[in-house]
Amino acid sequence: MSRIPLAVVTGGAGFIGSHTVDALIAAGFRVCVLDNFSTGKRSNLAQHANSDRLDIVTCDVAHGIFAALAPITAQHGPVERIVHLAAQVSVVASVANPLVDMQINYGGTLHVLEYARAQGVKKVAFASSAAVYGDVVEMPVREDTPRQPVSPYGIDKLASEFALDYYASVHGVPTTALRFFNVYGPRQDPTSPYSGVISIFADRAKAGRGLTIFGDGSQTRDFVYVGDVVRAIVAALGDGNSRLIANVGTGSEITVLELARTVVDLCGRKSTIEHAPARSGEILKSRARVDRLSEKLGVVAETRLVDGLRATLS
Ligand SMILES: NC(=O)c1ccc[n+]([C@@H]2O[C@H](COP(=O)([O-])OP(=O)(O)OC[C@H]3O[C@@H](n4cnc5c(N)ncnc54)[C@H](O)[C@@H]3O)[C@@H](O)[C@H]2O)c1
Repeated sequence: MSRIPLAVVTGGAGFIGSHTVDALIAAGFRVCVLDNFSTGKRSNLAQHANSDRLDIVTCDVAHGIFAALAPITAQHGPVERIVHLAAQVSVVASVANPLVDMQINYGGTLHVLEYARAQGVKKVAFASSAAVYGDVVEMPVREDTPRQPVSPYGIDKLASEFALDYYASVHGVPTTALRFFNVYGPRQDPTSPYSGVISIFADRAKAGRGLTIFGDGSQTRDFVYVGDVVRAIVAALGDGNSRLIANVGTGSEITVLELARTVVDLCGRKSTIEHAPARSGEILKSRARVDRLSEKLGVVAETRLVDGLRATLS
């Protein structure tokens, strides 16, 4: 009998991670989630409670992944693919505590790559971020735009990209880094003030509460639906691409004010839109160039914002 391929998803109990687990199980993988549940939740994976295709192991990636995976591979065979999503996800927290960010976001990536090198993993797909670019003026942002991160979070994502490239070229570990723009969708946690703006707006608008915009709302973002992001992750796990770095966005941008109005309209409640002073350091514009995503991975983020917002609000 042929063995079911084993994929590891670090951060698999989180927002993007849990959707990735859904897609990988649907695609025929056995999945092992490694998570320390700092922001992720077991309830995000409750739909697989009766599945024998999912193992969930509590593990801090900053301390290594060999020991956590040993019992899993003893039972199910070697790890074939790794999706590395586990991270300290707050830019603000990275500024307050850069050493912790480095240990989790860069150190965690090195631990994953060391495992992949030692065990002959066939592909590591990594969640990088548009934060590697910093405040870019020229839109859309191309992958070869100079990277000038303006936070420890962005620096550690960029350092992780360099590590991926090093392990690919020197140790022959196939890797792909996906630079996510602003991801949104169901299961994004609105409780943290640093969560994605859509999850916060959606949460407040559903309750008929006011929405607060920092500044005049003219700042733009490239909001990409989580289902499209997961298609990019699954495509990145395939053979035939390595040392690839690709933006994951829609290629279009909308203003935060327009977003707030759309969310309020879709909710049909009478939420007010208020303005607070602009946050220092906030980037003004963001829009991905997405040719590489479609050419190299065959993925187009096609979910219309209004459809993605409906799914998020339901
Ligand atoms: N959401 C976005 O818009 C966005 C944009 C760019 C990049 N990213 C990246 O995508 C990835 C997933 O982000 P998300 O939005 O799903 O956030 P999330 O907070 O929902 O998921 C992160 C997961 O990692 C886990 N985790 C954190 N530290 C860990 C550690 N030391 N060891 C093990 N697990 C740990 C958390 O418990 C959580 O389950 C992250 O790497 C993030 O930096 C997200």
